[in-house]
Amino acid sequence: MSKDIIIAPSILASDFSRLGDEIKAVDQAGADWIHLDVMDGHFVPNLTFGPPIIKALRNITDKIFDAHLMVSNPDVLLADYAAAGANYITVHAEACAHLDRTLSHIRELGCKAGVALNPHTPANVIEHVIDRLDLVLVMTVNPGFGGQAFIPAMVQKIARINDIIDARDIVIEVDGGITADTVGAVVQAGADAVVAGSAIFRGDNQASYRDNIARIRDAARQVNRAL
Ligand code: DX5
Ligand code: ZN
Repeated sequence: MSKDIIIAPSILASDFSRLGDEIKAVDQAGADWIHLDVMDGHFVPNLTFGPPIIKALRNITDKIFDAHLMVSNPDVLLADYAAAGANYITVHAEACAHLDRTLSHIRELGCKAGVALNPHTPANVIEHVIDRLDLVLVMTVNPGFGGQAFIPAMVQKIARINDIIDARDIVIEVDGGITADTVGAVVQAGADAVVAGSAIFRGDNQASYRDNIARIRDAARQVNRAL
């Protein structure tokens, strides 16, 4: 039997004026992980939040904190993200001149190490750092904004990454444009975890978040059952 998909709501799509309540709501609504989109206004045009806010949110939920660093120089603050309570720290391959060192550092800090790949970045960049990796984050939109359309050409890349990973214990996570309509293709290609922002934080209350998560989970299960 294949395992259930991990669903990681991205709080980027939540109401930032009520961040604590929004996290409580998705936690209760069936989220597996909480996806934290850190943007620096340099690697991506947008700006969000950093370690102090993550630290404040750590008291709200016991769920795994999945920090996605869309920043140009992640090395300078890795220790702060670890101290703030991030469980997974994912850096962009395009932002790291010394990716091997950065991934090792994340593990030395006691966190799980992830690498994110922009849509144009080839799957094989993970090949020579594979023993340093706990997670590969495949971007299915160009990072920086929520609510963008899923890029279908990424499905083939997910399958390629699945081949490279082989039997290793590395999570394949997919981020961008995930809905009940797109999740099936990424699960079929080998995704273990999906991030969803706008498809989950829709309807403004816990009951609708629960329905939105359940819809994505059901669509993923249908594919998993057939695999
Ligand atoms: C995009 C972020 C995503 C984003 C996904 O730069 O990394 O996590 O919040 O949002 P949706 O699900 O709306 O595409
Ligand atoms: Zn993200």
